[in-house]
Amino acid sequence: MEYHELIRKRFSVRKYTSELLTPGQIDEILMAGNVAPTAKDVQPQRIYVLESREAMAKLSEAIGPMVFGAPNAFIICGDRDEACVRPFDGWNFSQTDATIVTDHMMLAAHDLGLGTCWIGYFDPNVVRETFSIPENEEIYHILIVGHPTEDCVPGPLHAKRKTLSATVRVL
Ligand SMILES: Cc1cc2nc3c(=O)[nH]c(=O)nc-3n(C[C@H](O)[C@H](O)[C@H](O)COP(=O)(O)O)c2cc1C
Repeated sequence: MEYHELIRKRFSVRKYTSELLTPGQIDEILMAGNVAPTAKDVQPQRIYVLESREAMAKLSEAIGPMVFGAPNAFIICGDRDEACVRPFDGWNFSQTDATIVTDHMMLAAHDLGLGTCWIGYFDPNVVRETFSIPENEEIYHILIVGHPTEDCVPGPLHAKRKTLSATVRVL
């Protein structure tokens, strides 16, 4: 899909069919994340792919209704020990990098005709324990993904974008 059309058509999908992603679709989404820019090209992102129904059942138990019946998901983490650190203020780019990676993956999924929802509302300690994610990897986001149901529509917040004048300052 043409880029401008893609970013305008995307919305958070919270209603999915049970159809699993194919290995090819999972690879394409992962490759989109792989070409994302990261600070100093360190690539501190660590991505856990939940490809089986068993893994998704575990996720459902860990985060509850935020799975929205999605058949697959990615848990996006970042290795803070490996990430680039800005010397002036000690800012660690791990989360910034992981966020850009997640955005690339989200848009790639929509380009494949799939739906996603970016999930931030979960207890990272529970997710860490459920999937034995090592302590040096910060757990930032979960991207649920799958085929939207035919009657799936954007949520009420989708159309509520602020005007540019509310968010942009021209200097
Ligand atoms: C960092 C982040 C965290 C989010 N966490 C959740 C979440 O936990 N549950 C949820 O249903 N949606 C979540 N969303 C989706 C937003 O609610 C959604 O993007 C926003 O309301 C705009 O709607 P749209 O994506 O349909 O345009 C999250 C989005 C972002 C970027």
